[in-house]
Amino acid sequence: MIYPVILAGGSGTRLWPLSRELYPKQLIELVDENTMLQDTVLRLRDFEGMADPIVICNENHRFMVAEQLRNIGADSGSIILEPVGRNTAPAVAVAALRAKSDGDDPVLLVLPADHYIRDVPVFHEALATGLHFARQDRLITFGIVPDAPETGYGYIRKGVPLSPPGESETSEAVAIDQFVEKPDPETAESYLRSGNYCWNSGMFMFRASAVLAEMTRHVPDMVSACGAALEHGQEDLDFFRLDRAAFESCPADSIDYAIMEKTDRGAMIPFQAGWNDLGSWEALWQVGEKDAHENVVQGDVLLHDVSHSFLHASTRLVAAVGLENHIVVETADAVLISPRDKVQDVKSLVNKLKAAR
Ligand code: GDD
Ligand code: MG
Repeated sequence: MIYPVILAGGSGTRLWPLSRELYPKQLIELVDENTMLQDTVLRLRDFEGMADPIVICNENHRFMVAEQLRNIGADSGSIILEPVGRNTAPAVAVAALRAKSDGDDPVLLVLPADHYIRDVPVFHEALATGLHFARQDRLITFGIVPDAPETGYGYIRKGVPLSPPGESETSEAVAIDQFVEKPDPETAESYLRSGNYCWNSGMFMFRASAVLAEMTRHVPDMVSACGAALEHGQEDLDFFRLDRAAFESCPADSIDYAIMEKTDRGAMIPFQAGWNDLGSWEALWQVGEKDAHENVVQGDVLLHDVSHSFLHASTRLVAAVGLENHIVVETADAVLISPRDKVQDVKSLVNKLKAAR
């Protein structure tokens, strides 16, 4: 059995005003009629040996998460609630400790709840390859061929192939020579130019015991705090509540910094399946279905002489004339208007908003 562990505790700010603290990116419908969380779960159907999803999220989102799982007919019986966010490494530690507690040692598939993957069969092939090496106690990442010097990603330097090229379906796996999380712009630029690096997609696969062994080595305080949060935690209907005091005392870190930069057991499966982490409105324009004028339109929108733009209407008619390369996002209490090449600055806008209120 493979246990999918879905990380759903982030609070995306770059997709403001649609994504908010109360409605983070993973819980809204961004590309189709399903939410990102629902698509993440649905994408695993038909993969043999995949268990029901374990979702880890903030306790404030528990009813939304449970309802979204039920609405797609998925099991909502394994939702772990964090009283506070401690980033992704503790979330993974909790899932691994819990998965091992009944004597098993399953392979965990850790998935962000807010990514888009266009080509599901190709994704499944990468999972099958990953599974082969995860069973050999490797810590697997899935790598994306980079096309820009992005600084918001982890970069993975390709090491030796783990099986001779062309020998089997597992031929594409390589060892990880170096993992660098979120490099500065100059470093990212040099990695891109070298052609030897992939982006880390943020999905991982490993045996529970393998990731816990690395965590015990590199972040022992985290493992003990997470153990205590589970031990003193409580079942509550469909949910499992981690103990507040224990989890609050846990050091915060991401799995990338805490483990992947340090481990020497890393392996990467490169895959090209139209992956996108939807980190900005620009990304939504890129993956969205375009009309004849290259516009992506959601909701009640009326256009004249508009092209290469993304327009979203939540509650009212949005009408636009003579726009090119723009983003317009209407919600009940806020409207965003921005040229497409400036949408990265939405984050600064949100910071201003937070400071002002
Ligand atoms: N349960 C839980 N608790 N989930 C969390 C928490 C938390 O405290 N913090 C973040 N998450 C979830 C987010 O909702 C998201 O689905 C996932 O974990 C990854 O967190 P991000 O905050 O989005 O990470 P990132 O985008 O900065 O970087 C990661 O993803 C990149 C690719 O998109 C890293 O893995 C990078 O190396 C990678 O390139
Ligand atoms: Mg992310």
